[in-house]
Amino acid sequence: MIPVILSGGSGTRLWPVSRQNMPKQFCDIFGQPLQTLTLQRSLKLGQPWIVTSKALETLTELNLKQNQAQQVRVVYEPVGKNTAPAIAALCKLLQSQGHNDEIVAIFPSDHLIKEEEAFLKVVHFAAEVAAENRVVTLGITPSYPETGYGYIQTRAVGLKENGTLKAYSVVKFHEKPDLQKAKEFISQGSFSWNAGIFVFKVSHMISLFEKHQPEMWKQISNLKEDSSNLGEIYSKVQSISIDYAIMEKLNGEELACIPAEFGWSDVGSWDAVSSLQKGKDVLNVLGQENFVFGEQGKHYSMIGMEDVIVVDTKDALMLIKKGLSQDVRHVVDALNQQK
Ligand code: GDD
Ligand code: MG
Repeated sequence: MIPVILSGGSGTRLWPVSRQNMPKQFCDIFGQPLQTLTLQRSLKLGQPWIVTSKALETLTELNLKQNQAQQVRVVYEPVGKNTAPAIAALCKLLQSQGHNDEIVAIFPSDHLIKEEEAFLKVVHFAAEVAAENRVVTLGITPSYPETGYGYIQTRAVGLKENGTLKAYSVVKFHEKPDLQKAKEFISQGSFSWNAGIFVFKVSHMISLFEKHQPEMWKQISNLKEDSSNLGEIYSKVQSISIDYAIMEKLNGEELACIPAEFGWSDVGSWDAVSSLQKGKDVLNVLGQENFVFGEQGKHYSMIGMEDVIVVDTKDALMLIKKGLSQDVRHVVDALNQQK
């Protein structure tokens, strides 16, 4: 199996800790950067590849050095074009190197996984299912109508079993539904959250790009083995995520989903961070349920405040009402416009 880490995202919703030149996967929010934790897990599955942005080259090389993993192959993209071109380019490079029949497991670089042993077991099982020419997704039991995730509706009949794990064929994949749809999905009960991990055979994914994204594949299939013309190709390729470009277009038989619990969290927002860690000690007067992500050795007190998230860094301070942390991206957009 070839583990692949996608790490070119900018993590704007975790501003002001996550910055353009230091995105969240490299930030020390949980003791160790999520990129390090992802790399360490991937090394247990095979010889990893990383696809990331050229702007993150220094951080990536440093991270590999610190983990004595300089043998990892890195593809540097000149600009971010989201995850579909990143995966297409990776498949083309693997094909050029004769890895057509290899199984690839795609991992986002910004997730927290608490139960590593359970996780590794699921990924090995997913590779078995993917060998039968299905794109395998891992499904998480949804706990609230999140609009930032993909939802996978599974069929009732299982495809394959391994101990307590069961792979199901899929009715449909829905990326980032609106709130009303997300609520409907949750109430129906047959939907899982997409964990953002995809396992597939290289030749199978290429056939799906040929079928569902012929224009993109035509462009990417010109990629040279040394990636020297990636810049030229990327200047023309459409920016789109794999979820919209491929996953939503597949029929259920081309897809499989393994519902699994392995302590997964997408650390996508300050609300998520506040539910995963205690934060700094706060002296609350006439208030409660506040969360502070702040500086060492600084005292924090709040009076008459409830359900507030404070993010305090050297050059920026942000206060968020709990439940609204998806809107941090608007702050980042506004700041970018002022530049
Ligand atoms: N190389 C590269 N290039 N990587 C990228 C790029 C890019 O242009 N854009 C994003 N990534 C990386 C991010 O760093 C992250 O590790 C991963 O690809 C996923 O991208 P996100 O931007 O974080 O996706 P998302 O969170 O909105 O949605 C995805 O993940 C959810 C679960 O966390 C989807 O797959 C959803 O369906 C899923 O529920
Ligand atoms: Mg994400």
